[in-house]
Amino acid sequence: MSAISNTALPPSQVVERNLAEFTDKHVLVAGAIEDTYCQQLAQHTASLQIFTTDYPSFQALQKLELKVQFEHQYNATSSDKVDAILLYLPKAKAEIAYLLANIMPHLKADGHLYIVGENRGGIKSVDKLLAGYGGKTVKIDSARRCSLLVQQLTQPVPEFTLENWLSEYDINIKGCALTVVSLPGVFSANELDVGTQLLLENIAPLKGNALDVGCGAGVIASFLLRQNDNLTLTLADVSALALESSRRTLAKNQLSADVIASDVFSNVTGRFNTIVSNPPFHAGLNTHYGAPETLIKQAREHLKIRGRLIIVANKFLRYEGLFEQAFSHCECLMETNKFKLISNYPD
Ligand SMILES: C[S@@+](CC[C@H](N)C(=O)[O-])C[C@H]1O[C@@H](n2cnc3c(N)ncnc32)[C@H](O)[C@@H]1O
Repeated sequence: MSAISNTALPPSQVVERNLAEFTDKHVLVAGAIEDTYCQQLAQHTASLQIFTTDYPSFQALQKLELKVQFEHQYNATSSDKVDAILLYLPKAKAEIAYLLANIMPHLKADGHLYIVGENRGGIKSVDKLLAGYGGKTVKIDSARRCSLLVQQLTQPVPEFTLENWLSEYDINIKGCALTVVSLPGVFSANELDVGTQLLLENIAPLKGNALDVGCGAGVIASFLLRQNDNLTLTLADVSALALESSRRTLAKNQLSADVIASDVFSNVTGRFNTIVSNPPFHAGLNTHYGAPETLIKQAREHLKIRGRLIIVANKFLRYEGLFEQAFSHCECLMETNKFKLISNYPD
């Protein structure tokens, strides 16, 4: 996800049509919050808390002075349970089940879980994920190509246990063996991405310090730390689930680095010898070039003299023009039929 909208998007417009469901209730909102509608909703509820795993959403909602938590795991600020939970359907199915397990223990017995999302975003198939919470899922509204579902909690919900949601897999690249630890929905949660593999197999030895933008489960940074003595690494991502996965991958491999929440460079300080990235190019349901564009355009401000930005990308993505604008040239270090590794010349 990226910058959030100041006007209510279709899922929130459907919530608005059903405002009475939330009026005067203690409400917890979670999931893929892509607009600032919570600010209006908060004016009608008895209380409203927000749990987000997306850093740009957190920053935007915090500015509106809403009670918002950016974490990989929801930590209730009070032992009082809420009357209603509103979940904006996340895109990754694995993340839906994870978020439900996280937030459902905070719903009162007989409380209501509302799920809103675009029909093309898979809301029709959430029934199966709700089976463990009892009750029948009812569609209470459908408009703007979105549906609003409700389910009443009818059975006790177990406490959330993070360890139950961590997965691990082993990789071995150029003789470097690592274990990757990941939470659900994180990029490459179950296997190494082919593009990332191309980057790891072809990156030259590094010195000094490096920044991994969009670190995911921390696989690039962990490999670089293992391969290069005395290299220091900063890992950045917008996803709280990715950041926690990175911390766990580093710990599992007895490595250490700085892990920071940052929307591309928004929280990055200092300059680096190398910036490396397998950048995101999807946001929500639409292709989104914002983050890679910012990465390439602003990289120079975060590179030391003779520093390099090294990116792996699908071949169909046209990043060369952005490199030429930012560095006045672009070098292709390696390409396969699907991916390319591109960089600036150290100048
Ligand atoms: C293609 S994945 C690469 C993950 C990891 N580096 C790898 O190679 O397995 C891109 C990552 O960028 C993160 N991301 C998306 N938008 C971002 C932004 N604006 N700033 C920083 N990271 C972002 C995503 O959460 C995701 O973890």
